[in-house]
Amino acid sequence: MAIKLNDRYTSTFISASDLASIQPAVTAADQLLRTKSGAGNDFLGWVTLPEDYDKEEFARIKAAAEKIKKSCDVLVVIGIGGSYLGARAVIEYLKSPIYNNLKKDTPDVYFAGNSISATALNELLAICEGRDVCVNVISKSGTTTEPAVAFRVFRALLEQKYGKEGARERIFVTTDRAKGTLKQFSTDAGYETFVVPDDVGGRFSVLTAVGLLPIAAAGIDIDQLMLGAAKASHDYTDTDINRNDCYRYAAIRNLLYRQGKAVEILTAYEPSCAMLNEWWKQLYGESEGKDGKGLFPASVIFSTDLHSLGQFIQDGSRIHFETVLDIADMGNRFAIPNDPANIDGLNFLSGMDLDDVKKMAMQGTVLAHVDGGVPNLILEINEKSAFVLGELLYFFELACAISGYILEVNPFNQPGVEAYKKNMFALLGKPGYEDLRADLEKRLQNS
Ligand code: PA5
Repeated sequence: MAIKLNDRYTSTFISASDLASIQPAVTAADQLLRTKSGAGNDFLGWVTLPEDYDKEEFARIKAAAEKIKKSCDVLVVIGIGGSYLGARAVIEYLKSPIYNNLKKDTPDVYFAGNSISATALNELLAICEGRDVCVNVISKSGTTTEPAVAFRVFRALLEQKYGKEGARERIFVTTDRAKGTLKQFSTDAGYETFVVPDDVGGRFSVLTAVGLLPIAAAGIDIDQLMLGAAKASHDYTDTDINRNDCYRYAAIRNLLYRQGKAVEILTAYEPSCAMLNEWWKQLYGESEGKDGKGLFPASVIFSTDLHSLGQFIQDGSRIHFETVLDIADMGNRFAIPNDPANIDGLNFLSGMDLDDVKKMAMQGTVLAHVDGGVPNLILEINEKSAFVLGELLYFFELACAISGYILEVNPFNQPGVEAYKKNMFALLGKPGYEDLRADLEKRLQNS
């Protein structure tokens, strides 16, 4: 197995009988998922997606990616939440968090429409100046404010720069198959469109056109990504947590939660994992954080955060556990040079590979944190590759669904996201929100 769960550092917190006691809940969760009888069962398309996907559309995604590579210097990907995090996570993990600064034969990829910031928008427009631009706007509903505003701006930019005809060749739309204003508008304008399947929610959509088009445009092998996910979909079907690491992970995080460990920290030792962490946070936060329940998903990148959050993790309130991503082979080596003067006293490290130093830092930190009362789960990943990343994405999605069902929530809805939208629309004066606006304004004035 390319991914292995090492839970030896949770053994002082979780006993064999704890594990045995949660097995029935895991089996029941698996039943709900596999028989499609649980809450949110109309959003289970992602379960079989790695093999059961639209092959014709997959070929169109590859063709569109080639067209984007040939015709632009900058691809602007417009979307928020599940409509951008997966693509960004995969590109930064497999290519680099500084992908845009590297010498390459693929376009820069920038993400827009995930904030409400004049500064961010103006900066991106400045980056696009004098460069050839393509746009991939992604919104399942087609009505989300942040990406809709950004799309207005970039559509106008492209039409001004290339004319309506030229812009049509550079705008790619990923949205619902049939519904929504974005779908209607795109059909009328003649844009090439890709589908967010009805039965796949945003945060489970990285292996649909939502993630795959920007990922392919960045030069990543999407066949390998899908093959890896397909392998995982076969590997993690056993309900027995002694034989299924994915289900065991879901079980252990629930057991720790029941002991008051209400925060799970996804810990990585590679800067390229930062957006993967963000994708994971959305997946788990939006899936489980409801009905007054759920683990709060947090993340750190070490060593960086050992010098900021390390103190709290080691020594602060005992509310958390860590899940550590331990990637054995990142595909890079760097030997530490010898310094004849040995000014820093570090010649004992001369010739040692930097990733071997990292390994010692990781092992030392795990032991220190466990000694400090922080359970550590280690996810051992054998290499950094598109195939294994496909496995990992599926591993986390499946574990999230099982974990959500163990927690007895609907892992596939996100009712809480609507509250801010309603208030924002009311305060902005959207027609139909007059009463709420008056009420909110009164509250703001009184505060
Ligand atoms: O996971 C989800 O469903 C959400 O994060 C959505 O992806 C996000 O709200 C964006 O929605 P839409 O794609 O409809 O613009």
